[in-house]
Amino acid sequence: MIHQWWRDAIIYQIYPRSFADASGDGYGDLKGVISKLDYLRDLGVDAVWLSPFYTSPMADAGYDVADYCDIDPMFGNLADADELIAEAHERGLRIIVDLVPNHSSSEHRRFQAALAAGPGSPERENYLFRDGLGDDGELPPNNWTAVFGGRSWTRLTAADGTPEQWYLHLFDPEQPDWNWEHEPVRELFDDTLRFWLDKGVDGFRVDVAHGLAKAEGLPDQVSTDSDLGFQTGPQWDQDGVHEIYRRWRAVLDEYDGDRSLVAEAWVEDPERLKLYLRPDEMHTAFNFEFLDCLWDADAYRKVIASTMAANESVGAPTTWVLSNHDVVRHVSRLGLTVPGSSHEGLGLRDEQPDNVIGLRRGRAATLMMLALPGSAYLYQGEELGLPDHTTLPDDVRQDPTWTRSGHTRVGRDGCRVPLPWLADAPAYGFSPTGESWLPQPESFGELAADRQVGVAGSTWTLYRDALRLRREFGLGRGELTWLDAGEHVVGFDNGDVRVLTNVLGDPQPLPEGWTVLLSSADVDGELPTDVTVWLKRS
Ligand code: NOJ
Repeated sequence: MIHQWWRDAIIYQIYPRSFADASGDGYGDLKGVISKLDYLRDLGVDAVWLSPFYTSPMADAGYDVADYCDIDPMFGNLADADELIAEAHERGLRIIVDLVPNHSSSEHRRFQAALAAGPGSPERENYLFRDGLGDDGELPPNNWTAVFGGRSWTRLTAADGTPEQWYLHLFDPEQPDWNWEHEPVRELFDDTLRFWLDKGVDGFRVDVAHGLAKAEGLPDQVSTDSDLGFQTGPQWDQDGVHEIYRRWRAVLDEYDGDRSLVAEAWVEDPERLKLYLRPDEMHTAFNFEFLDCLWDADAYRKVIASTMAANESVGAPTTWVLSNHDVVRHVSRLGLTVPGSSHEGLGLRDEQPDNVIGLRRGRAATLMMLALPGSAYLYQGEELGLPDHTTLPDDVRQDPTWTRSGHTRVGRDGCRVPLPWLADAPAYGFSPTGESWLPQPESFGELAADRQVGVAGSTWTLYRDALRLRREFGLGRGELTWLDAGEHVVGFDNGDVRVLTNVLGDPQPLPEGWTVLLSSADVDGELPTDVTVWLKRS
């Protein structure tokens, strides 16, 4: 049987504009990524997922793609992408690229052609154009709201100034939704998959995988529960998405090398998520229920057990994740009064997290995650224990959420701040010129990579050791057996390793006959509050 690397891989997410800037313009680029591949190899990850680097007007930081088969000049060019793939492979690192199939940029040539061709034209079939309701079409075709705020429909104006049709955008108005009922759209994405597969990429992270199919007739949204706004309703998780993924799976299976698909699907529960993971669909899907879990032992036990059971029923591994470019970093989430409670963004007017407590819990959460069977994603900078920038001035914010929500939601800039590489250099070594598209907080100085790599006790070293031991003990392919370790302790055995996380409980004595392999903070015969320990039999 082939290795199926995606079953237990540790995948490091690079958000290219904030990772490393080689050109000096204040935005990260592909040359910057290439310059840090040794760092990633030394950390011990198996693969890298890059958020979009395609041609884009950057209305949503590159998730508005104008050309799926070219590189935005901000990040470099196709030769840089080829070099990156080759250099990564040389170091044994696999490459996953981001595929954004729910919407394009409004600058995409097919959208521009649709605008020019006018109502009723075949060009308009590529997207979801509709006449408005009301006597003069002045009302939107339905009541859907956009994820970033405002409504999901924008009305066009003809060249002579008369109001025209509306088009659908589940996100920003500059991100029109593709019409997946239209065969040429499906063909465009077959070609896109092949373009990148031919270049040698090892897989795709599929953006908004639960959004592509819409309920027939685009009926009104009934639920007003805003917490479920991104998960349920006629625009989300429709059964029609699955035939698309079966088609893509067939394309991937034409290629050698075990290429894989990972779904970004925010669906209601693991029973819905597992449908994306049936043997002829995607290989893995992010487990966002785990990411959203409050710092509570019982909640963790439940989410781990239920998601593993659901995935096992379709033969798929579980894919763990604690941070990414859309949510508050887990160090900051866990430093709040209700630990784990925030999601999208923290700003000047919000509760400020306690970064010391947050880091202690963050390290404990990470060690729990890395001991679980399955694969796991790390978000750039979490190996340095970075917090969010929670005091960004309003006027530097760039996430469309901030403007589209009428300045009621600060959005996701706080987790997207450029990485600190050197404590004593301008922009903490992010760029050679000291330019940085977002300001970095002062706390980044002491957390810079050069203060942590190879330093005993640092968060970087903890991650490196965890990845090495995880591989040595085969934890990613292991079997989990639950332990009854007390109300506040998440406890399980994975093969020969015993894992205990004390979540907000009093210190617990460590079991006799076991020695400490690794711990997220000092342990001395007992397991303190908010600490994870990995043990092996003495
Ligand atoms: C999910 C991506 O992770 C996010 O950053 C983006 O804004 C939306 N999809 C829309 O593409």
